[in-house]
This record gives sequence, C-alpha cells and structure tokens, in this order.
Amino acid sequence: MKASVLVRPRSVEVESRPLPELEADEVLVRISAVGVCGSDVHYFNEGRIGDFVVKSPLVLGHEAAGTIVAVGTAVNPGRLGERVSIEPQRPNPHSKQTLAGAYNLDPSMEFYATPPVDGAFMEYVKIQSHFAFAVPDEISDEAAALMEPLSVGIAAMQKAQVTPGARVLITGAGPIGIICAQVAKAYGATEVIVSDLNGQRREKALHFGADRVIDPMSTDMVNLGLDVDAFIEASGATPALQSGIRNVAPAGRIVLVGMGADEVALPISLIQSKELVVTGIFRYANTWPIAIDLVRTGKVDLDSLVTGVYGLAEVPQALLNSTKPESMKTIVRPGV
Ligand SMILES: NC(=O)c1ccc[n+]([C@@H]2O[C@H](COP(=O)([O-])OP(=O)(O)OC[C@H]3O[C@@H](n4cnc5c(N)ncnc54)[C@H](O)[C@@H]3O)[C@@H](O)[C@H]2O)c1
Repeated sequence: MKASVLVRPRSVEVESRPLPELEADEVLVRISAVGVCGSDVHYFNEGRIGDFVVKSPLVLGHEAAGTIVAVGTAVNPGRLGERVSIEPQRPNPHSKQTLAGAYNLDPSMEFYATPPVDGAFMEYVKIQSHFAFAVPDEISDEAAALMEPLSVGIAAMQKAQVTPGARVLITGAGPIGIICAQVAKAYGATEVIVSDLNGQRREKALHFGADRVIDPMSTDMVNLGLDVDAFIEASGATPALQSGIRNVAPAGRIVLVGMGADEVALPISLIQSKELVVTGIFRYANTWPIAIDLVRTGKVDLDSLVTGVYGLAEVPQALLNSTKPESMKTIVRPGV
C-alpha cells in the first residue's frame, strides 16, 4: 500500500509499505478520507509538539474514516464492508483511567500520528474493532472523518455542562471553535457568542450558527460584561483567555481547549469570589456515538466545513493550505 511519510520536518514522501498485520480484536480499514489537523501541521513544520518529538519517519493524520476490508480472528466477519469512522486511540484497557471511564487520560495512550505511532495518511490502517464506529450511508466520507474534531467539541460542551438555555462564549473561530459553536447550539445553548481576530472566520461563525460575533481588536473584551454560563477558549491565545474569563457569570465554567502558552496569569480573586470552574480537556472519551447521531440528525454540519480535498501525493499542499484563514477543513483522500 501507499503511505505518505514525514521523513524529516517539511519533507514528506509517498512510500510503499506492507499491509499491517491484524491482532485478534482489530480490523483493517481502507481509508477514504482524513482531515488535516493543526497538530499535523506542527509536526510537519517543526517535527515536534512540546515533548512529543518526531524521531523516526511518521505517518500523519488522525481524523480518519474508511471501509472495513479485513477482520481479526475475534471480530465478527459480518463487519466486512462496513463504512466506519475511526476513534484514533488505543488506551491500556487495564489502566486506572481507562477503568474509571476516562481512557483519554491514560498516560500510556497510543494515539494516531503522535510519535512514534503512525496515523492515517495512507491507504490502509488497523484499529481495534470497538474504535471503528459504523456510519450510516447518509453520512459522507468527509463527515465520517471529521467525527474526530466533532468529538473535541462534544467533550468541551460536556465539561462546560452546557444545557438548554445556556449562554456560551467561544474565543477562536477555527474549525474547533466553529464545531464548538454548533455543538453548543445542539446542546440547547440559546446564545452563542464567538470572537476571532479574523473577519472571514467571524463570518464563518455566523454562517455556522453563532448568534453574535466579536472582533477583539475593536472591542474592550475585558469590560464587555457578557455574564455567560460557559466560556470555551478555542484559540490558544493568552489575551483571549484572560479577557474571556472576565465575562463569565458566578458559578460559570471555563474550558481550555486551545493550546497556547504553558503558563498564564489568571485572576485568582475573581475565580474565588465567583466560584468559577476552570478546567481543560484532553481529546475525548465515549463521544463517537453522540457525534454520529448529531451529524445523522442534522444538528451539526461537518460537510460544509470542508474547503479543500487532496490526494495522497499532495499531502504537503494539504498541510500548508490548511493554515490559511479562508480554509476551514482540508481533507486528504488516500484513494484519489
Ligand atoms: N484540548 C484538545 O484536546 C484539543 C484538540 C484539538 C485541538 N485543540 C486546540 O484547539 C485550538 C483550536 O484549533 P483550530 O484547529 O480551530 O485552530 P485554528 O488555529 O484554526 O483557530 C484558532 C483561531 O483563533 C483565532 N484567534 C487568535 N487569537 C485570538 C484572540 N485573541 N481572540 C479570539 N480569537 C483568536 C485565530 O484567528 C483562529 O481563527 C488549537 O490551539 C488546537 O491545538 C485542542
């Protein structure tokens, strides 16, 4: 099979590789579509994200979907031919975190496209059968792949305890912020306010259901007094976090999704006097069935996020184009 391999920073080559051998509980998936994530671009440009360093050739891409073409000995052969969305992780089933249901927090997690584990910019991948979720025919290959970033939005909304009638502030209108806006609406939020420095992205946020958008350059975010129930930080920008937190109502929740500076000054007395809950999320657990239902029922639109489709030989262009503000979600189709 063909695989697009990051051989060194900014250098990707299409190589021929043997098909992976399946363990008893795994399935082999012929990949139809893979979304490009900002983390893929970081690995491509810099060869690292924090402590995760690419030390040997790595296949990028972790937002993946395809069709089951082979099954391990313990998997029901009736699954052959099933279209699936892949949850791209493999926790240790015996870890304390996995047993507690928060398998995303398992320190020994193996995650696609995170060194040294290969991702899905290739023709076939293997995954444990319980992390290959059947998708109905009405869901496109692209949307099936984008269940992964949708899962981030679901995890954020669950942590933020967004319920009907909630008012929500989201800073950052990249794919994650826009997906969060859609999920907030699906979870019953009655007012979703989105900020972004970029006008095109603010327009996108309105298109995808935001009730109001804010330009932080021309607005005094600190003194805006929005008094929201939940604040989702999805930009990774320190000023967005520091000003956004001033707009949260007493007992409100602040969920840090965006990854930016490691250390940031926060208003402690405000957090204490308002009993604000500040938390982060690290990916997701148990979100795929919810994600598939939100898309199947039309509550979330992933197809309209797609702004470019590339073949396996065009992975560098896909990665570079994905960072343009006018681009939202870029897809690689290994079969094209
Ligand atoms: N915690 C997790 O598990 C998890 C998972 C996926 C992505 N992420 C992170 O989520 C963040 C968003 O991802 P994305 O793909 O949408 O990124 P992106 O870079 O496409 O979008 C970020 C947006 O924030 C905007 N922005 C920058 N400064 C701002 C400010 N001061 N105020 C408001 N908006 C501002 C940018 O203009 C941009 O549109 C990234 O930091 C990513 O690493 C976290």
